[in-house]
Amino acid sequence: MKKMRAGIIGAGNISDIYLAAPSKFSNIEMAGIADLLSHKAKEKAELYSIPFYETPDDLLEDPTIDIIVNLTIPSAHAKINLAALDHGKHVYSEKPLATRYEDGKKIIEKATALNLRVGVAPDTILGAGIQTAVQLVNEGKIGKIVGAKAFMMGSGPESWHPNPAFFYETGAGPLFDMGPYYLSSLLVLLGPVDSVTGIAQTTYLERTIKSQERAGETFPVTTPTHVEGLMQFKSNVTASITATFDIHQSKLPFIEVYGSKGTIHVPDPNLFGGPVSYLAEGEAGWQEAPLVSGYIGNERGLGLSDMIESIQSDHQHYCHGELGLHVLELMEKLLESSVERTFKTLESNFSMRTLPEKV
Ligand SMILES: NC(=O)c1ccc[n+]([C@@H]2O[C@H](COP(=O)([O-])OP(=O)(O)OC[C@H]3O[C@@H](n4cnc5c(N)ncnc54)[C@H](O)[C@@H]3O)[C@@H](O)[C@H]2O)c1
Repeated sequence: MKKMRAGIIGAGNISDIYLAAPSKFSNIEMAGIADLLSHKAKEKAELYSIPFYETPDDLLEDPTIDIIVNLTIPSAHAKINLAALDHGKHVYSEKPLATRYEDGKKIIEKATALNLRVGVAPDTILGAGIQTAVQLVNEGKIGKIVGAKAFMMGSGPESWHPNPAFFYETGAGPLFDMGPYYLSSLLVLLGPVDSVTGIAQTTYLERTIKSQERAGETFPVTTPTHVEGLMQFKSNVTASITATFDIHQSKLPFIEVYGSKGTIHVPDPNLFGGPVSYLAEGEAGWQEAPLVSGYIGNERGLGLSDMIESIQSDHQHYCHGELGLHVLELMEKLLESSVERTFKTLESNFSMRTLPEKV
């Protein structure tokens, strides 16, 4: 398989796993890295023995780079994604695609006009866990699908992230930051959403950093941190999501899918592996399903590799822009409905390519 040359913009916390991706995915060549803070990019470039670019613009202007991998903070996603396309490059972006649906639409429209690809995290939806659940749904293991529930329950990333303030700005919070894992999974399991409503609150107006050097520093919270959402899918299935950074602990499942003849217990959508268990009519108790693929570790880069393979095979890549846009519209409308006390209909749509049984 032919390699494509990827350049990373954003040399922060998550960049290491992407920088290590070429060792697992032979079609990715990491061709360089840049950051607003050039010393951060330089450090990573030295660590991984790849070229360093003084500024993001220098990297964007290099004609030998095929794909920009956007690992910046959410508020910079739209600008970098659009700049990548303007420079004639495909883009694979960390989630969310943008912080506003209007910007997300501009990204997809531009990519379509220029015949370039937009890929969006999370690629955990290609992992063995979610793909096994998708297969169980598609083969009718639990009968006709009735509904689903998703719970993203936590106390927030300030316990481990060195720079957690961005998680509490508009365009992040538990819904925009973690929601894409849960919502993308629900969407590949159940299809597009028709309408949404929600209730959201900001329980604590200030948070305190608990990790590493900056422990004890406080910062303001400017986005809802405790969110309840209700979704009606186009298939008439209903689902709910709770996304919170405000609770202490929970024993709720990550995601469950309910059918007329059984239930599927879906593993953590932030991870790639299982276990996936299900209870189905006619079978004795909960069963663990055999996983459909070998992607069970931290395989971030899988979505980028799939996008490269899809460009070369001229088929739709799995973690694609329309899916990311639908997730973005869903999250934005959920929060809007919370303020307006309304039920909102989505305008975006998407379809997924069916994967071969062994991903
Ligand atoms: N940290 C994780 O475990 C994790 C996991 C999955 C996804 N993500 C996602 O990855 C993205 C980055 O997260 P992170 O944890 O690495 O954040 P981070 O704050 O550690 O790193 C972000 C980097 O982007 C740079 N940056 C910001 N604005 C920029 C701009 N306009 N141009 C160029 N560089 C810019 C910053 O200087 C910083 O080095 C976020 O979208 C996050 O949701 C993070």
